[in-house]
Amino acid sequence: MAGRNDWDTDAYDADTAFVYEYGESLIDLLDPKPGARVLDLGCGTGHLTADLAAAVGDGEVVGIDRSAEMVAAARENYPDLRFECVDATEYEADEPFDAVFSNAALHWIADQRAVAERVRDALAPGGRFVAEMGGSGNVAAIVDATLAELAERGYDVDHPWYFPTVGEQAGLLESAGFEVRLARLFDRPTDLDGPDGLRDWLAVFGDSLFADLTETERAAVVERVEDRLRPELYDPETETWTADYRRLRFVAVRQEIA
Ligand code: BEZ
Repeated sequence: MAGRNDWDTDAYDADTAFVYEYGESLIDLLDPKPGARVLDLGCGTGHLTADLAAAVGDGEVVGIDRSAEMVAAARENYPDLRFECVDATEYEADEPFDAVFSNAALHWIADQRAVAERVRDALAPGGRFVAEMGGSGNVAAIVDATLAELAERGYDVDHPWYFPTVGEQAGLLESAGFEVRLARLFDRPTDLDGPDGLRDWLAVFGDSLFADLTETERAAVVERVEDRLRPELYDPETETWTADYRRLRFVAVRQEIA
């Protein structure tokens, strides 16, 4: 699995703003207290990092992302905050955090064991790991239609994302030294604005699916994917595509080391 993507940060903010808008309720679940130290893992363009920073007041928030484009945009958006360009599977904290927060980032990471261990080591004992990611069955209609269209054209592609069940994610976290206090898989049908909503979504997130295609081929595949999915995911009256998102949220607490 290689969840690499060429991030267009303007399109990410313009066409998929729901990513951080939905993330605001994940901050409510974290309930960060003034004075806390929080790591935002996969901070993207930094909007939720800024919300976290406002919540912790004189505490500290560090935003990390492996995409240099995302980190540059985050620094430009919030020059007073601390952002680092680093892969979460290699991250080492200089001081322990009270909480690690992550919204819509974990499913891009191939080595889940490594990231769980790095998060554990970045947390103080008793510290919390609060995250949302794509869960089992996430965007299955979009993925299936795209892979089927690619297969018809002779491209044998698998999708790059990790969308676990509750059992898989809880088992991973427990084996890395966490106690799982909450884990929940739920549907979140997500509206993509306008008649171009699906192609915009594929433009922002789909690079690894189309890595072997020319621009012309990619455009043709996207058109056919729209045709395949229109009956199921498009409402012509409201001119809205609805992506079949399924989210997995969890709260896990780092155990004391005996
Ligand atoms: C998600 O946030 O669920 C997601 C984003 C991009 C590709 C796949 C899933």
